[in-house]
Amino acid sequence: MCANDSNITSEYDDSPNCFSSFENEVRFQFTRDGSTGLYNTGVEDVYHSIYGAKTEAEEKFVLPLNFENNFINKNNIKVLDICYGIGYNTKAFLKKIITTNYNGQITIDALEYNKKLVLISPFIKDGYEDKYPEISFILLRALADEIHSSSDFIKYIITHPQYRKFIAPFYRRLIKKFKHLTYSYNPLESNNRFLHNIYYHCISPRNKKHLKPLKINKIIFNSYYEDARKSIKSLNGPYDIIFLDAFTPTKLPTLWSYDFFKRLNSLSNDDTILLTYSNSAAVRHAMIDAGFYAGKLFDKEGRCCGTIATHNKNFILNPLNEYDCGLMKTGAGVYYRDKDLNLTAAEILEEYAIRKKELNLESSSHYNKFHKREKVNAKI
Ligand SMILES: C[S@@+](CC[C@H](N)C(=O)[O-])C[C@H]1O[C@@H](n2cnc3c(N)ncnc32)[C@H](O)[C@@H]1O
Repeated sequence: MCANDSNITSEYDDSPNCFSSFENEVRFQFTRDGSTGLYNTGVEDVYHSIYGAKTEAEEKFVLPLNFENNFINKNNIKVLDICYGIGYNTKAFLKKIITTNYNGQITIDALEYNKKLVLISPFIKDGYEDKYPEISFILLRALADEIHSSSDFIKYIITHPQYRKFIAPFYRRLIKKFKHLTYSYNPLESNNRFLHNIYYHCISPRNKKHLKPLKINKIIFNSYYEDARKSIKSLNGPYDIIFLDAFTPTKLPTLWSYDFFKRLNSLSNDDTILLTYSNSAAVRHAMIDAGFYAGKLFDKEGRCCGTIATHNKNFILNPLNEYDCGLMKTGAGVYYRDKDLNLTAAEILEEYAIRKKELNLESSSHYNKFHKREKVNAKI
């Protein structure tokens, strides 16, 4: 097992020690748009762009869907959120559902092997808490039972001085309001009371005040706490939308192999849109060999910020150009293999290094020099 693999929480553990293993692995930080972001000390990678966790989800994962044109008229939309984390991509998508008054049936399958992240996701200060509190209520409603059975952990995160500022004020106030009722000699009772109040204020249909935002009854949210490679073997498609938000390919290659994309391809229909933040030539090459068309995504400043994969060429606004296609034929375009979707990161990297050496392709730096020279020559 690679060092990276061993440092990641893959099994859900609710023992008292698990709090410290969670704390050692996951660091909270504010990103520049004010939303909460995370950093993973095991993988040494951020979960969210430091420029803004919420902004990143909206710009890279929801805007490129062109929802108003491509999805609004569908009766059912099925979403696969791979690497849910604390849910920004799902939340940004739900905001789109709310703001467009979409009235169809939504199913979201969220894949994430760190269950604790999923369970704290409704409580996070994510920038949606003031204008769209119903996003959090939708998640709470779906996760209520699991949150209840992990109430020690949830309460610990919400009340701990280290984390408090990353929790939506509404939940902080709620817990404060009922603090005087805390039965310190009976923590179970205290937890249940806290959860009961959350239920009463956010979810219960008897609470008229909060019923209005919960008119959106047609949303099903399912979560799967295991390696996403295992989940996609048993899930049934087709999905209309796939978000792929795994850690950086070079840091954790497990969810970027040709074989993973091949399986995603079989979970797609003619109009599926798969979105990822990665610009990697190897990732694009894997998508194309797996049966997708690939195109580029650009942010508001005109910087390339990700890739779209689909079977419908009309969805691709920025096709790969000659340079991008050439780059895929160099060493930079060699993709990972994971035939049965069960290798460790170290095994994937080892096989990749051997195959890359054997292929002995032009290096990307040589290609870049040549390509630049070509461009300069063309200008002269
Ligand atoms: C870059 S973060 C994604 C952040 C997330 N989209 C959000 O909005 O918070 C990558 C996430 O993938 C999860 N992850 C990494 N490898 C995984 C795997 N093989 N199966 C399931 N989840 C995985 C990590 O626990 C982490 O939460």
